Amino acid sequence: MTQPPSMAEEALANSADDASLARSKARSAEIEADIAVNPGRYRMLTGVRPTGNMHLGHYFGTMHSWATIQDAGVDTWILVADYQVITDRDAVGPIRERVLSLVADALAVGVDPQRSTIFTHSAVPAQNQLMLPFLSLVTEAELHRNPTVKSELEATDGRAMSGLLLTYPVHQAADILFCQANLVPVGKDQLPHLEQARLIAQRFDKRYGRAVKEHPVFRRPEALLSEAPLLLGLDGEKMSKSRGNTIELRMSADETAKALKKAKTDSDRVITYDPAARPEVSNLLMLASLCGAGAPEEIADRIGDGGAGTLKKVATEAVNEFFAPIRARRAELAADEDHLLQVLRGGNERANEVAERTLADVRTAMHMDY
Ligand code: TRP
Repeated sequence: MTQPPSMAEEALANSADDASLARSKARSAEIEADIAVNPGRYRMLTGVRPTGNMHLGHYFGTMHSWATIQDAGVDTWILVADYQVITDRDAVGPIRERVLSLVADALAVGVDPQRSTIFTHSAVPAQNQLMLPFLSLVTEAELHRNPTVKSELEATDGRAMSGLLLTYPVHQAADILFCQANLVPVGKDQLPHLEQARLIAQRFDKRYGRAVKEHPVFRRPEALLSEAPLLLGLDGEKMSKSRGNTIELRMSADETAKALKKAKTDSDRVITYDPAARPEVSNLLMLASLCGAGAPEEIADRIGDGGAGTLKKVATEAVNEFFAPIRARRAELAADEDHLLQVLRGGNERANEVAERTLADVRTAMHMDY
């Protein structure tokens, strides 16, 4: 039996975590500064699971930075992680619609398919093949310890761990390593994945040496930590597709108004920005602020004793104004399925070329090039 950790041990573990998070943050800031000077050094990979429609939490969390990074001159890759959909659920759902909807979202927020690569797992066999050698480089115990795997298993309400859920960090390492990405924008909850990818790359290099070239087969991926403020959902809980508390990117102005009307607030008519004591009210102020309505405190001052009704009106106007151009572009794109398919097939083609090249190096390193 393992003993529960003592308070001292736990404090030590937490401070170690804090220290490593601080290091990751410092490194991430360095990289951000370097991107401005040497964008050509970087290939960025980001991944999204097509499990539902993109919402404003996604937008302000990551999507808004896709075009910024691309426009800075970084080679930008966006993975629609379709195989990850079946890590913690039985069926794929309306996967085709969701994948195409994501492609439309990406294009609507400014991703340019001429410069960036949008692709799916299922279309890139060489990428998936990396899973085999990679699985031999990790232990079962290591996978069981992965905090993201643990929390995802807990979120499935007691269902059995599938082989894919246990090993998906290895598959995600293949996502990152196959395309030689050296930059992965992540929230801190995804840092263990990146560490796993780095470990696999190192172990591969140690085991199979440098048969191919002077340098390792895989590039070392680093985190670009997002400092995005966490947007809450309309019920005051974390904004998430499965909770049904989101404002979706694709909603109309009317649907947005209706959704925001139902948002949870409190009974104090005087609006103040106080995230700790008034999380729901403060969240609406933050949302309006992110959409360009000024600092949250200023918006609160303007509303004064106008109450939750005025706050919701202000937030609705800000959201609808901010997203109007993106939504208009998105509606146009969504109506042209052929174009979306063409973009995706182009991205898949590019991903296959790179994956084939990496797999060829892997075969050579493993002396399996017949
Ligand atoms: N696991 C990520 C998520 O749930 C999605 C993802 C898949 C990803 N592959 C990736 C993210 C590779 C970064 C890099 O959001």
